[in-house]
Amino acid sequence: MEKKQISFELTIFNSLDEMLPEDANLVMESKRAMANSYSPYSNFSVGAALLLESGKILLGSNQENASFPAGVCAERVPLFYAGANHPDEEIKAIAITASPREHHSKEPAAPCGICRQAISEYENKQKKPIRILMRGYSGPIYKCDSISDLLPLGFNSSFL
Ligand code: THU
Repeated sequence: MEKKQISFELTIFNSLDEMLPEDANLVMESKRAMANSYSPYSNFSVGAALLLESGKILLGSNQENASFPAGVCAERVPLFYAGANHPDEEIKAIAITASPREHHSKEPAAPCGICRQAISEYENKQKKPIRILMRGYSGPIYKCDSISDLLPLGFNSSFL
């Protein structure tokens, strides 16, 4: 028998001032994207900002539906847009700001499992890690350097 420890490094910034300007800006853009969250059912607003290697930033927000499963998370909106419109450009990072609308959260929310899988697909495709930045409405910012940190032992095309 063998046991293997899998660990990852989470960087916690106490404020945007501690971050690289490029990343701080991406986090602010993700907060801006929350404004277009269509979430009348959960009242939970999520904004995502995706940074391409050209410096272009794509925004997305969660879009809900009366038929609940038809809705989509914020992260997958700019991710699939990038896949569809900038297929050959590297994705450098994605920032996510998430909070209930009623009470502003200070706790970062990490991407759901489906979004982790979707981000992982593009990371595998480009063979370069995608930085993940997470924040509540305000408060600390969490950073990890690859989606594989949040989705260890992930499923990928090599298994097919
Ligand atoms: N949501 C996201 O947009 N991203 C996530 O990673 C987690 C959940 C959305 C989906 C739904 O509109 C609301 O948050 C509550 O689950």
